[in-house]
Amino acid sequence: MVCLQDTDRPTAAQELSFDAWDELQSPPPAITDFDTVVERALSRRGFLGGLALVGGAAFLMGTSALTPARAASRLAFDAVAANTLDTITVPKGYRWQVVAAWGDPLWSHAPTFDQETRGTGASQELAFGDNNDGMALFTDGTRHILAVNNEYTNLNISFGNRPDGKPVDADDVRKGKAAHGVSVVEITEADGRWNIVKDSPYNRRITADSPMQITGPARGHALLKTEADPTGTASLGTWNNCGNGRTPWGTYLTCEENFNGYFSASDAGYTPSAALRRYGVGNEDWGYAWATTDPRFDISKNPNEPNRNGYIVEIDPFDPTSTPKKRTALGRFKHENAELVIDGSGHAVVYMGDDERGEFLYKFVSDGTYSIGGDNSDLLESGALSVAKFNDDGTGTWLALTPETTGMASQAEICIHTRLAASAVGATTMDRPEWVSANPNKAEVYCCLTNNKNRGVKPNAGGDATPAAGPNPREKNTYGQIVRWMPEGGDHTAAGFTWNLFVLAGNPTVHSDAYAGSKNVTADNMFNSPDGLAFDSTGLLWIETDGSYDNTGDFAGMGNNQMLVGDPETGEIKRFLVGPKECEVTGITWSGDRKTLFVGIQHPGEDGNSHFPGGGGSVPRSCVIAIRRDDGGLIG
Ligand code: FEO
Ligand code: CA
Ligand code: CA
Repeated sequence: MVCLQDTDRPTAAQELSFDAWDELQSPPPAITDFDTVVERALSRRGFLGGLALVGGAAFLMGTSALTPARAASRLAFDAVAANTLDTITVPKGYRWQVVAAWGDPLWSHAPTFDQETRGTGASQELAFGDNNDGMALFTDGTRHILAVNNEYTNLNISFGNRPDGKPVDADDVRKGKAAHGVSVVEITEADGRWNIVKDSPYNRRITADSPMQITGPARGHALLKTEADPTGTASLGTWNNCGNGRTPWGTYLTCEENFNGYFSASDAGYTPSAALRRYGVGNEDWGYAWATTDPRFDISKNPNEPNRNGYIVEIDPFDPTSTPKKRTALGRFKHENAELVIDGSGHAVVYMGDDERGEFLYKFVSDGTYSIGGDNSDLLESGALSVAKFNDDGTGTWLALTPETTGMASQAEICIHTRLAASAVGATTMDRPEWVSANPNKAEVYCCLTNNKNRGVKPNAGGDATPAAGPNPREKNTYGQIVRWMPEGGDHTAAGFTWNLFVLAGNPTVHSDAYAGSKNVTADNMFNSPDGLAFDSTGLLWIETDGSYDNTGDFAGMGNNQMLVGDPETGEIKRFLVGPKECEVTGITWSGDRKTLFVGIQHPGEDGNSHFPGGGGSVPRSCVIAIRRDDGGLIG
């Protein structure tokens, strides 16, 4: 299965597959009338009947995706062939190196990574975290500060020294908590290679125990008050930080995703509230065992603790003494990333996906406006939150989330129970919105809808219907797609937009219907489960995948997870990189001179079949790699 964070599967059910657990928790209707769903989709849009009909649905597929690229390609590299090697493959003329890997010490008094023990609590607190995901490089003069999310740990790897691959004592739990969060690390380049600057004053580990401020409408709300913080204005830690964002005022945005899997109940008879269940919080954790040493994670004792997670957190990478700020104004859900654009009016507009099957796509518009060189530290403190409604005719609307539209008591409550608010206004259930990225050349925004096996099969966790329709046109969506939308009048603050699909991923060597993918998917560039997404400064779209690496059946010929580049104008897509075995490719940022591209390699060997990057019999380790051209030229 793809990765732990994609499911709500406690380890008590480890003998079940992830999908089997999911179905047990929320079984589909006894009779799934597949034919009825297909028929409805066909009659509505003439879509699922095959590729000819896909091509005929011009309002759905972007013009570029339907038009063969006749102009000279802007993708000036030799495509990489799919493969299942246990290494990185990049185009001819490019090379790569590891910059920072799980367990690498950030200070000289910390030990090097121990292959036998895989670290202790004390060593992990001084080292690069595990399972790196979103990241951003900040440069000030000659200093380069890399802020990197450390999303989670694979228990079978981080506790592979234990008989059953689970934490066994308090120090194991301490190590696990320290492997999560954010690593802020100075790096430097010499002779074309990047390295960690040990003992840099900027180096910092933010973990599941670091003090945070709670800001915005929900600050001080009763739902955020706990035994540890009766004021509801502070919290400890951030974890399961997935994608990221960055602001033009030099701060890093880290996004809390599957925060639920760390909570459990010591009282087996405890019944979590409906609101907690909507966020997947239950009586069993995913095996992290944090509640065994920290009562914050015991929901039968501290039922409000999960309400302090699921936010966007703003961090100043240049001030290691600063307290990270949880920005409740941007809503609480399983945040993927946070794409911030400054609109022509000066407002900060942040687009955000909620990565769960049938959840929603959101937009925040700041009340204040950006001031170049001024004090923007409170710009994400307050603003308008809305959620996307996509119509089948290629139009859409951002629906405001206010007490009036949702029937909820206050904006604070909306910012805490955001999923419930979005359900109340009838937002469009999506195929797991992952990263969002805005085209730097025009008012146009893209989002990866990674996959959704429940599309057209059963409702989301809130009971909202998930018909195969609009930007989510295929039932049992195995492969995923990328939707893009154009704000009305080119104004990101506008309520209206139009949309189409940039690509429907698929396998044209296996299928001849809509599951073959759109016309810009071929046997040479096919992929599944687009996840990471970022425009470079020239306007090319970099696509990272987190999908099946089975390389058989529906996925035959796709190989390991990979990174591709797309041209938004022509629809052309070309494979740039293939990752090692059982990894996900995620996280992307460039050096200021655009000569280095940093990419994240997460959980190589999650099923036990990789020794990347060390080779031999070494423990597989997530890492950040740097890619450069042999000739030192620009990338992207
Ligand atoms: Fe952490 Fe949605 O991936
Ligand atoms: Ca992701
Ligand atoms: Ca994913």
